Amino acid sequence: MKRPVGITVYRQIMDSQHMHGDATGDLSGLLTELIVAGKIINAEANMAGLADIIGISGKTNIQGEEVQKLDEFANNTIKRRMARSGYICVMASEEDDEIIPVQEGYEGKYTLAFDPLDGSSNIDVNVSIGTIFSIHRRQSQGKQGVLQDVLQPGNSLVAAGYIIYGSSTMMVYSTGAGVHGFTLDPSVGEFFLSHENIRIPEKSKYFSVNEGNYHYWTPEMREYVHYLKEIDGDSGRPYSSRYIGTLVADFHRNLIAGGVFLYPRDCRNPDKPKGKLRLLYEASPLAFLVEQAGGRAITDQGQRILDIQPQELHERVSLIIGSKKEVDVVEQFLVRK
Ligand code: AHG
Ligand code: MN
Ligand code: MN
Repeated sequence: MKRPVGITVYRQIMDSQHMHGDATGDLSGLLTELIVAGKIINAEANMAGLADIIGISGKTNIQGEEVQKLDEFANNTIKRRMARSGYICVMASEEDDEIIPVQEGYEGKYTLAFDPLDGSSNIDVNVSIGTIFSIHRRQSQGKQGVLQDVLQPGNSLVAAGYIIYGSSTMMVYSTGAGVHGFTLDPSVGEFFLSHENIRIPEKSKYFSVNEGNYHYWTPEMREYVHYLKEIDGDSGRPYSSRYIGTLVADFHRNLIAGGVFLYPRDCRNPDKPKGKLRLLYEASPLAFLVEQAGGRAITDQGQRILDIQPQELHERVSLIIGSKKEVDVVEQFLVRK
C-alpha cells in the first residue's frame, strides 16, 4: 500500500511498533533518540565551513586514524544522548577503544553499535558523510551490559540504519520489515517518508571500489574488476565506476541506483589480513539493510556477512555488497579458484 506524503519517521516507527503486539515502545524510543542525535550532527555538519569544526582534533583512535573534530562531536553527541536514554545497556563506537557503559540506573534491554561519522576524509571537502547504527537485544542478565552483548552477529540484529548528510539529509533504516527512507525537511526539522520499501535493483552497471589498491588485491579480485572494464555490449560492460570514499554514501547510491561496492582484503598489511571496514559499525548494519532490500553482502572469501560471529570490538572484514546479481557474479570469480 502506498502511503500518503507527509508521513513522519516517528509515525512510521510507531506504526511498525503497533504491528508487534508485544512491543514495549523501547525500540521506537531508541530510534527516536538516534534521530535527534542525527539532527544535531546534521546541524553541525552543515555549519562545517563556518564553525571551528573542520580539521583534525589532534587525537588518534584505536584504529590509528586521525580523529576529526566532527568525528569527536558526533561521537560525543550520540554517547551523551544514549547514556541516559534508558533503552540500552551498553554501547560500542568506532571511536572508542572499549565498550561504553550507560549511566547507572538507566540500563535498558538493547545494545547499540555505531560509526558516529563515516567518511571522515570527506568532511573538510563538502562531500557526503553519515552516521551508521545497529541495534541488538541484550543477552546478559546483569545491570550494565558486557562485551558479549555487542559481539553479536548481524543475523540477530533488531534494527539498523544510517543518516546520510548529503545533498539532502536522509535517514534510512530497517527493523526487519523492509527498508524505508526519510528525507529531512530542514524548514520544519522533520524527516518525512520519501522512499517507501526500498528495493535495490537486481542488476546494474555500476561498481564502487578504490582502484588505487588494485595491485594489493588477490588475483581473483583483480580478474573480476578487469572483467567489469572489458567491452561486451551483451552484458552491458564496461560498467561505470562510482567511488565516493564514504562507505555510507557509496552504499546509498548503490541501494537506490543499483551497483556493487567492494572493499576487498589487500596484501599490504599482513597484521590486518581481513580488510579495512569494520564488521560491527559498518559491514554488519549495511548487510542487514541490503538483504532487507533484496541485495546481498559477502566477504571476499564468500561468507555471508550477517553470519559472521564477531570475535572482537574493532574487527575488520572484507566487504562485497550490493545488487544481488552483481554479488552473484563476484562470488563466481571468487569460487573459481
Ligand atoms: P571512517 O571515516 O568511519 O573511518 O570510514 C572510512 C571508510 C569508509 O567510509 C570508506 O568506504 C573507506 O573508509 C574509504 O577507504 P579508502 O580511502 O581506503 O578508499
Ligand atoms: Mn566508517
Ligand atoms: Mn567513522
